[in-house]
Amino acid sequence: MTIDEAIRERHTVKIFKKKPIPTDIAKQLNDRIKALNEGLDVYMSLVLNDSSALNAAVRIAMTKNINNYIVLSGKNESDLEEKLGYGGADIMLFAQTLGLNTWWVSGTFNKGKAREIGGIPGTNLIKGIIIIGYGENNGIPHKSKKPQDVSVYNGKTPPFWFIRGVGSALLAPTAMNKQAFMIKGHGDKVSIKYDKGPFSGLELGIIKYHFEVGAGRENFSYE
Ligand SMILES: Cc1cc2nc3c(=O)[nH]c(=O)nc-3n(C[C@H](O)[C@H](O)[C@H](O)COP(=O)(O)O)c2cc1C
Repeated sequence: MTIDEAIRERHTVKIFKKKPIPTDIAKQLNDRIKALNEGLDVYMSLVLNDSSALNAAVRIAMTKNINNYIVLSGKNESDLEEKLGYGGADIMLFAQTLGLNTWWVSGTFNKGKAREIGGIPGTNLIKGIIIIGYGENNGIPHKSKKPQDVSVYNGKTPPFWFIRGVGSALLAPTAMNKQAFMIKGHGDKVSIKYDKGPFSGLELGIIKYHFEVGAGRENFSYE
């Protein structure tokens, strides 16, 4: 499965099998996380066989066997959230290509525990966790806005790469499935904005990642 295919396959999963993540799969995840951490200058950390970073609300809300997660953290800089959104999207989709399922949680988790168990440096900010494991099911597609609700291309028919990019962005996870983004294009230029909200930096990074995979990075530049 490619990352592009994973975008179509990925949905939030909250009910997992007991099956642990095998060592060779954990190594692939850790290698990818290390490369993302170095490339983006963030600090994501895979925690296996622990559920203490989940708070009670999440644990009782129709969940099962949540035993692994990735803590999303980094230095207190203005673009931290966008970078974690971008890197988190990559690791979620990479996990999907390895046959795993995921659930992004930025609101309802225990930051103190995530810091302690994830070995996060005291000065880092923590912006969420990505729960990961083998789902009992693959989840279901979220309700989606239409391309015309979230994009505009210079008032005329958009090129194929733009249409594909918007389609990928509409498949991305957003907090409470708000999909509060706007993608504008003209010529080979694109701008992407996300409405202000508690997680809008993360969501902007996630949407940019999805758009880039769908559109092809070689077809456009940001303005
Ligand atoms: C930045 C972000 C924060 C999220 N925070 C939570 C959360 O605190 N609790 C929760 O149950 N789900 C959370 N989610 C999961 C979303 O509700 C879910 O991704 C969305 O409904 C879209 O569904 P999908 O992932 O199946 O596409 C979050 C997702 C994102 C991207």
